[in-house]
Amino acid sequence: MRRVYLDNSATTPVDPRVVEAMLPYLTEKFGNASSVHFYGQEARVALDRARREVATLINARPNELVFLSGGTEANNLAIRGIVESNVEHGRHIITSNIEHSAVRGVCDALEKRGWEVTRLPVYEEGVVRLEDVRAALRPDTALITLMLANNEIGTIQPVAEIGALVRQERERGRKYLWLHTDAVQAAGRMPVDVETLGCDLLSLSAHKLHAPKGAGALYVRRSVRLTPQSLGGHQERERRAGTESVPLLVAFGKAAALAREEMTDRIEHLARLRDQFEIGVEARVADIVFNGDRERRLPHLSNISFRFIEGEGLLINLDMQGVAVSTGSACSSGSLEPSPVIRAIGRDDELARGSIRFSLGKDTTAEDIAYVLEVLPRAVENLRRLSPLYQKSLAERACEIKTA
Ligand SMILES: Cc1ncc(COP(=O)(O)O)c(C=O)c1O
Repeated sequence: MRRVYLDNSATTPVDPRVVEAMLPYLTEKFGNASSVHFYGQEARVALDRARREVATLINARPNELVFLSGGTEANNLAIRGIVESNVEHGRHIITSNIEHSAVRGVCDALEKRGWEVTRLPVYEEGVVRLEDVRAALRPDTALITLMLANNEIGTIQPVAEIGALVRQERERGRKYLWLHTDAVQAAGRMPVDVETLGCDLLSLSAHKLHAPKGAGALYVRRSVRLTPQSLGGHQERERRAGTESVPLLVAFGKAAALAREEMTDRIEHLARLRDQFEIGVEARVADIVFNGDRERRLPHLSNISFRFIEGEGLLINLDMQGVAVSTGSACSSGSLEPSPVIRAIGRDDELARGSIRFSLGKDTTAEDIAYVLEVLPRAVENLRRLSPLYQKSLAERACEIKTA
């Protein structure tokens, strides 16, 4: 059976060039980067190179990066670290209602501990509005945390515009207002430049960039003080204690370098296949709705709601035919709640439950897309045939045509 992986927003296949780069650090180059001897220095040199490579991807300085275990830890360190070191300057946080659970969960926890959180709406297009951010700003706002691009619908948020707003506030003398952005989905799929964005903190994850799971980074602008969330050794300039995983971070560095070198080609390839996919679906399947703004979005992702269908059913049906996709619903966590992101863009329960995320990768081919376009309409048709609501709607439509 042919297998097509269209779940690159969940994780990406590891690039063989990345595996090759990391392998020596799993075998003969096993040193601890904090050791003074030859083995340690070998690891340190590799770690420094990886740091330069990841920093270059986002136009940061190497010493502004904290290496850690992934996007979740980066978001935790960013938000907790900044608010805990600014308790006396303000306890208000601005965020959106479509953040990844790693941001949402931290904000919810802080709220229980006495912080106030404003969750901005994203409207039908799935994008936060600058005027809402401006209106939500208070004298006690310590942090704005807003993802650069959404993981379910791919919409790109106005982080650079908010960065400019924060800069203006600073020019007016405001000292304690920070901007964090979760760039886990965006990195490698659009240019990410911390200077253009004007952010103070930015989260990255290696496994969305064709490196293995278990590595990530937090960009921390020099001058920003963070309360570390893990205490122990002096690693990572005392911002994240614990022996660095040299092989995983070497892999991250290599993946970042490749992402930068190949960015233009990858974006062009992804957008072309994504468009081919969407045009094909639109021509073959009726009663669908595309979710999220179709201009202001990442090039690799298409989120579609199929009426009269449960997304989970379609996911399983496609999986049986070798096509891997994902639903936005929280079913995987044991709950049948429809996706909060799809609800946040104003879709009703039916559309939220019937939404599927197709996320392409640099290795997706035109043949893969052609195969999906062959099996998807059949799978949708089969599921709809079982739906009494669909049958009723067909009957109603037939009636309308007759009456007309
Ligand atoms: C936007 C976003 N932030 C954070 C994360 C968490 O990253 P990690 O899996 O590296 O913990 C993800 C992963 O899906 C994500 O999509």
